[in-house]
Amino acid sequence: MISPQPTASAAHEASATPAWWRDAVVYQVYPRSFADSNGDGMGDLPGITARLPYIASLGVDAIWLSPFYPSPQHDGGYDVSDYTDVDPRFGSLADADALIARAHELGLKVIVDIVPNHSSSEHELFQAALAAGPGSPERDMYVFAEGKGEHGELPPNNWTSIFHGEAWTRITEPDGTPGQWYLHLFDTTQPDWNWENPAVHELFERVLRFWLDRGADGFRVDVAHGMVKPEGLPDAQVNSEGLIDIPEGEVPIYFDNDGVVDIYRQWRPILDSYEGDRMMVLEAWIPEHRLPQYIGQDRAHQSFNFGFLQARWGVETMRRAIEKPLALADAVDSPTTWVLSNHDVIRHATRYGFAPDHRFGEGLSREEVPDAELGLLRARAASLLMLALPGSAYLYQGEELGLPEVADIPDELREDPAHHRAGVPGRDGCRVPLPWQQDAPAFGFSPTGESWLPQPEVFGQLAADAQEGVEGSTLELYRTAIRLRSELGLGRPTAPLAFLEDLPAPVLGLTRGDVVVLVNTGEEDLELPTHLREAELLVASAPSAPGTLPADTTLWLRRR
Ligand code: GLC
Repeated sequence: MISPQPTASAAHEASATPAWWRDAVVYQVYPRSFADSNGDGMGDLPGITARLPYIASLGVDAIWLSPFYPSPQHDGGYDVSDYTDVDPRFGSLADADALIARAHELGLKVIVDIVPNHSSSEHELFQAALAAGPGSPERDMYVFAEGKGEHGELPPNNWTSIFHGEAWTRITEPDGTPGQWYLHLFDTTQPDWNWENPAVHELFERVLRFWLDRGADGFRVDVAHGMVKPEGLPDAQVNSEGLIDIPEGEVPIYFDNDGVVDIYRQWRPILDSYEGDRMMVLEAWIPEHRLPQYIGQDRAHQSFNFGFLQARWGVETMRRAIEKPLALADAVDSPTTWVLSNHDVIRHATRYGFAPDHRFGEGLSREEVPDAELGLLRARAASLLMLALPGSAYLYQGEELGLPEVADIPDELREDPAHHRAGVPGRDGCRVPLPWQQDAPAFGFSPTGESWLPQPEVFGQLAADAQEGVEGSTLELYRTAIRLRSELGLGRPTAPLAFLEDLPAPVLGLTRGDVVVLVNTGEEDLELPTHLREAELLVASAPSAPGTLPADTTLWLRRR
């Protein structure tokens, strides 16, 4: 039996040409690791521009560029020291213009990353704040506070950093005495801006306009639930172990505070004042029931839905991770987003290589060995499911090659600040430079064979040129699925989504109009239900004989 599932308002879609982002497939480029044109072992903007035809050949609609701004690179560029320039490691502003222009020629929109919660400690305004002393307007640009204790020797409150350790660092005042403390929810080198200060609002409005004027089609907003801190900077509740207590389904005290949404209310008219449906997508790791607050005609366009990424392999978990966001999207009349991998999480080809109840830490340790074959099989099945869903889909560079997480990175080469602060493996394993050519030095990442992180052997067989035109390769699977998604309008809400209820237990099934999507999450190959035996096979995530639904496989069928 079929249970109808609401999707975002078809009436709205019918009224005008839908904005491009509503059903876009967006490809995330992590500039350090995409393609290196000058041979220094670090990816760069000209490298990306040269490879844009490859991205366009996937059939995607847009790219999202992780930060390429000047930065000491203590957090992979998410520590920005100048929001309106390009880091010389990555090129120049002229290179950014050339990239945007070439992308537009190829029909690709460009989303840039904006990091408004914190800057780098090397930002000139933070340096000015340090130099100007307590109570100055310069210091008021960031969150400074007096310490507790007799001599101010204790931090202003008990907050801890997302990257471990204290969220406060004490400075030395210009006169040489121990002084105030500054807040950094992330690394010590990432001081938080003070969003109580109107000058911070003005600064970021100028930044938005700077990139909109240069042709950016949208923004991915980093730590979009941060920025506004609770009044008086109160202590967080701690549990019996002295750790900050975060009740299930909630966020730490310094996230998702009243007032954050007002920032998007201020930004929206700026974006709307430009032609061409400029958009913003929020990176907000908050409980999904909170997401609707952030989305709407007068605030952000959309937000990442991380529930799908976090869902364990299985019918109930995955179905719930689809149903819930669709219902929420309907409520705010903005299609949901789908994402399985990005530069902060263990790649999904590796995540799925563990038992569904595996408890992951921060990054993959050498001791955690996945079943790589199973991981890739399920990753392909999950991606094919994702690409059949209404809304926008965000892909992370290299997932179209089936790249695994790399666990075997020497500790001294790891760059993730969480690794340095707490010894966890961290996120470098998903940031290893891409393999382009099977038989070239650094697998074609760089002309000199340099690579800022070493690439594992297995990247050779997964290189783009080894998969190009090869039937059944992960690269060709993505191309086929993205093409069909577009031809069949699967990203649009117009093909209603309904779950199929009369399937064998391990099968998740849904229909989008006359397209039927089946995911066999079980370990046994199954026969197709009788009423689907005559259906046309559109695409399969793994080889499947007629009439069968192999284990760990997704099929798209069309009812005749
Ligand atoms: C976001 C980014 C992540 C970065 C953090 C601090 O979560 O995605 O890479 O470390 O913000 O900027």
